[in-house]
Amino acid sequence: MEPVRELMRSVETDAGKVRYTLNLYHEDFSALYPGMIRYTVIVMAGELMIAVFRTNSFEYSPLVPIAAENVSMQTADEWEREIRNNPTDFIQNHRQVLPEPPIVTTSDLVVIQGSPRGDGNCSILARWAVDAAHELGRTAQVIYPHDMDIRCCIGCYQCYNSGSCVFDDDMGSIIGAIKGASLLVVCSPVYTNTVPGGLKLVIDRCQAYHAERVLSGGRMGQKGLVFSVAGRKGEENFTCITHVISAFLRNLGIDPVGEILIDRVDAIRDIRTIPGMEENVKMKVKQHLVPKK
Ligand SMILES: Cc1cc2nc3c(=O)[nH]c(=O)nc-3n(C[C@H](O)[C@H](O)[C@H](O)COP(=O)(O)O)c2cc1C
Repeated sequence: MEPVRELMRSVETDAGKVRYTLNLYHEDFSALYPGMIRYTVIVMAGELMIAVFRTNSFEYSPLVPIAAENVSMQTADEWEREIRNNPTDFIQNHRQVLPEPPIVTTSDLVVIQGSPRGDGNCSILARWAVDAAHELGRTAQVIYPHDMDIRCCIGCYQCYNSGSCVFDDDMGSIIGAIKGASLLVVCSPVYTNTVPGGLKLVIDRCQAYHAERVLSGGRMGQKGLVFSVAGRKGEENFTCITHVISAFLRNLGIDPVGEILIDRVDAIRDIRTIPGMEENVKMKVKQHLVPKK
């Protein structure tokens, strides 16, 4: 999505042989969120970008008496002053320190196993999915959010400035794995009609990947499957969870292409006792993964 971009201010300062250009842009993201405006201050030394500051109107909650526009203008004023006073100090003070990229393992199939029980029914579903991928000669990995270091989304909206999250934890490698998969399977038990907390952390933190896609584009054509188990009897137990997981997939440009929903699991206890279930799960996975040639 290309925002509507307007130049609000442009100042040029000559220092020695170098021309410094400070630009302040107003970018309208209303097509994404109502009234979201991003302000960007960029300083160039000749052709080289040396400093960038971004802020957006959603970063400031209702009780905070600060507006993104004022913050961006104050930053532009201050930077303009610093450049005029001493451009060498400005470069030293505003050098960008880039975070280390996460270590990412990519696989054709990625399964997010949302149950905190590593030996429960969702783990059985996850194992069947992985076996199906291997039978096709495809690579697979299972992500267990409950075993990982994942902070909860704090709604700071800074990902819409930069396309990345302010936290540096295991989400970087999870997002990397999701990006690399041709098929994403989300396995989840129903907890109070929705997903367990660990999986919800992943879902909310993937907002940073959504922001990255909005700002820079992203892969299309990935597919997603929803596998879920509920303790109680009845399809209605899946109403909320299927909405939540499908919305999550669509938010990342992944097409939800099917689901397997197993109810009455508290009575059944072990889904391996359901005739044909393993074959059913494997068939579903194989339908959406191309065999390796
Ligand atoms: C905290 C909690 C909340 C649950 N809420 C529901 C629910 O709302 N509806 C339901 O049908 N089952 C509910 N269950 C039952 C689980 O969905 C069921 O035990 C499931 O098999 C667990 O999956 P697992 O074996 O993969 O861990 C709940 C279980 C727990 C522990």
